Amino acid sequence: MEDNDRYIGLGTAAIGRPQYINIRKKQPNADFSLSSFRKRGLQLIQKAYQSGIRYFDTAPGYGIAEDLLIEWLRSIDDPSIEVATKWGYTYTAKFDPNAIQHEIKEHSLAKLNQQWATSVQLLPYLTTYQIHSATFETGVLDNTAVLDRLAELKATHGLLIGLTSTGSNQRDVLLKALDIQRDGLPLFDAFQVTYNVLDQSLSSILLEMVNQNKRIIIKEALANGRIFPNPSYPHYERLYQTIKQLAEIHQVGMDAIALQFCKQTVRPFTVLSGAASTEHLLGNLQAQVLQLRSSDIQILQSMAISTDDYWTERKALNWN
Ligand SMILES: NC(=O)c1ccc[n+]([C@@H]2O[C@H](COP(=O)([O-])OP(=O)(O)OC[C@H]3O[C@@H](n4cnc5c(N)ncnc54)[C@H](OP(=O)(O)O)[C@@H]3O)[C@@H](O)[C@H]2O)c1
Repeated sequence: MEDNDRYIGLGTAAIGRPQYINIRKKQPNADFSLSSFRKRGLQLIQKAYQSGIRYFDTAPGYGIAEDLLIEWLRSIDDPSIEVATKWGYTYTAKFDPNAIQHEIKEHSLAKLNQQWATSVQLLPYLTTYQIHSATFETGVLDNTAVLDRLAELKATHGLLIGLTSTGSNQRDVLLKALDIQRDGLPLFDAFQVTYNVLDQSLSSILLEMVNQNKRIIIKEALANGRIFPNPSYPHYERLYQTIKQLAEIHQVGMDAIALQFCKQTVRPFTVLSGAASTEHLLGNLQAQVLQLRSSDIQILQSMAISTDDYWTERKALNWN
């Protein structure tokens, strides 16, 4: 085994709101109880901590997830914990499974200040503050008032400033962000990026990020569930067979193969697990006890699809 053996972090999107983007079929409108949902979320955070996870990723856009973390952190005294949060999305579905609109994006200074007023409660565990889904369309990377405010928060609280990126132009967004400076130094330190066996486009900018000593956090490592056999995606049959075979060889689940692939090919600071259940969490954590062979890596590298195809399919996924 090598450095950073415990590299999996917990992404809290799926424990903060009942619907989330994935490949599941629409659930029947089962009764929803906020109090039992809260309880399950807190239990999952605790289980993750007991299983060795020390990095937690959240956002105000993830329903009650950030509040759950704030509450849980009050019961903990462990300086090895790191929390990352974001600003820019407001959760609007009010836990209604039939909601038409689940979230609203707004990259304004007012939204930043409004959401910071809650996120500040994550200190002193908060290490990383990110723009949630930075794009060219919102103009956030040209918004001087926002960038100045982020620089101020960085200086005042010793935070890493980051952004998350989504979409086929991830590389261009990252390149632009790498060039942004305040007081003669780069503003952005941490980048939460999409990377998995299907979308490996990050590779084309990886060297630059590593040379600039940036912290890389991988999200959507399971391609929102698309790495698992599913009759709706017959074009991935070869991928399913390959991952299944490797899972049998290494005696872990398919999820562990996909997560460890991200670890060995990118060497990120962390790979996020999006687990919503203990079973998935423990399955995901199996990745940390596994070492893929270079022949395994090569075959998985050959499974990448075009970035445009990846994101066309991703955009068609539902909130389930
Ligand atoms: N910044 C952003 O814009 C952004 C976007 C996406 C994600 N994120 C962060 O990244 C984290 C992870 O991303 P993600 O959850 O979207 O994507 P992901 O990890 O690629 O995929 C999660 C999907 O995999 C399934 N899954 C996980 N483990 C499984 C197992 N052992 N067996 C079968 N299915 C399994 C889940 O099933 P179920 O549906 O049954 O749970 C879910 O559908 C999030 O929690 C969030 O913190 C950030």
